[in-house]
Amino acid sequence: MHESKRMHSIAAGLLMLVFIGCEPTSSAGAAAEQAPGPAAVVVTAPSAVPSSSAPKVASAEALAPPPWAGRRVSGSGFPCAIEDVLASSCRRCHWDPRENDAPFSMVKWEDTQKMRSGKPIHVLMRQMVGADLMPPLDLSVEPKVSPLSAAHKQTLLAWLDAGAKKSSETCTP
Ligand code: HEC
Repeated sequence: MHESKRMHSIAAGLLMLVFIGCEPTSSAGAAAEQAPGPAAVVVTAPSAVPSSSAPKVASAEALAPPPWAGRRVSGSGFPCAIEDVLASSCRRCHWDPRENDAPFSMVKWEDTQKMRSGKPIHVLMRQMVGADLMPPLDLSVEPKVSPLSAAHKQTLLAWLDAGAKKSSETCTP
């Protein structure tokens, strides 16, 4: 109790110094981080430390991979090689919830066995991918849709041609 009050007043004092010493708020955090010795510990503890992280967060987002790159599903029933293709090129839209007006999800193997316009979805996948109509390169989304790599296209078509069989493989993320 006593100790924590003391810590708080040290923190408050230090913050005052930081504010007085620096004009832009953005350098306050950096100055505090560089403070040597036990003072640095005190400063990082209270949530009252001014948020100076806005520009850092923005640049981290710019460097981060797109959100759909992580759309892997463990125990999906897809072979791991197919998980790779779906995560990088299909689930951006064929996800749950669906995005960019994709008409169905491709989360689990069972999704590819459902019927759509009188055909199993895996048959439609074969047609669309074979004709280079999926992924849809002309869709106006940002960032632009990238085509399947030759290797991914071959892998997906081979699996579809072999009957789009279910797999019990356990895939590493
Ligand atoms: C950028 C979004 C997007 C991506 C990525 C995408 N799709 Fe689609 N997909 C759509 C939309 C929108 C439709 C509905 C309009 C259409 O059929 O063109 C669709 C429709 C489909 C259909 C149904 C076609 C029919 O005749 O009903 C299939 C099958 C399909 N996609 C497979 C895939 C596969 C396989 C991939 C990955 C290799 C993929 N899609 C990637 C947006 C996407």
